[in-house]
Amino acid sequence: MDVPTMIGIRSGAADTTSLVSYFPIPFYGILPVNAFLIRAAQPVLVDTGLGALRDPFMNNLRTLIDLRDLRWLWLTHTDADHMGNLLPILAEAPNARVVTTFLGMGKMALHQLPLDRVYLLNPGQRLDVGDRELLCLKPPTFDAPETTGIFDTATRVLFSADCFGALMKEPAESAADIAADDLREGVVTWTTIDAPWLATADKYQWIRSLDRIRGLDPTGILCSHLPPAIGLTDTLLLHIASAYSAMPFSGPDQAALEGLMKGSGSG
Ligand SMILES: [Fe+2]
Ligand SMILES: [Fe+2]
Repeated sequence: MDVPTMIGIRSGAADTTSLVSYFPIPFYGILPVNAFLIRAAQPVLVDTGLGALRDPFMNNLRTLIDLRDLRWLWLTHTDADHMGNLLPILAEAPNARVVTTFLGMGKMALHQLPLDRVYLLNPGQRLDVGDRELLCLKPPTFDAPETTGIFDTATRVLFSADCFGALMKEPAESAADIAADDLREGVVTWTTIDAPWLATADKYQWIRSLDRIRGLDPTGILCSHLPPAIGLTDTLLLHIASAYSAMPFSGPDQAALEGLMKGSGSG
C-alpha cells in the first residue's frame, strides 16, 4: 500500500460503526486511521479521518447518517489524522458541536473553528448523549496534550485515541487477526513513536494509569490506529507496559533514509 487508502465501513463494536482507512509509513508498514460513529440517541462521531481521503470518507459517512442528525463530533485531539475532515463535516452538520478541551479549542482556532460550535469537556467529566453517558478520560499514552479518550458507559467500549495503536504489515479486520508477535512489536514500536515522553515518565505513576484502564474492564478497545480489539485489553496493556522499557524511537536520518531508498529501489 503506497498511498492513503479508504477501506470502508465496518462494524466496530456494540452500537458503533468504524470508518476504516490506512496510511502508509515509508519503510515501516501501514497505520490504520479509524473514525467511529456511536449510534447513541444523540449520534456521536469520533474523529474525522484523513483530509487526503475526503471524498471517500464523506461518502461513506453520508451512507451511515444524515449529517443534520449528528449531534456531537468528539475530536480526540487536533492531529491531522484526526481532524482531516472537520470543516466539511461541520458545514454539513449544523446541529453538531465539537467536543474538545480548552487547549484543543485554542489549537483549532487556527483553523477558523467557530467558538459557538465547541463543547469543552475535561477528563473525569461526562457527556450526556440521551441514552447513555460518555466518560471523558486521559489515555495512558498520547502525542498531543489536549488528547481525550471516551468510555461508553452503556456498551463499556473504550475509545482510546492514539493509545494502543500499532504499525502493521497489512490490513486486518480485527486486532485478534494480527499474529501475536506482530501485534506486540507493532504496538511497542508505535507507542515509542507516539509517546516519546514515556521513557522519562515516573514508572509507578504511569503504571497506575494502566490500572485505571484495567479497572474500567472495557468490553473492547476501539483505537484510532488499530483494528477493533475485543477482549484483548490485558494483552494490549502488557504491550504498552513493555514499551516503557523499550528503546526510544529515533527515526532514520538523511543518510539512513537514502540507504533505505536505495535498498527499496526507490533511490
Ligand atoms: Fe496523535
Ligand atoms: Fe493519531
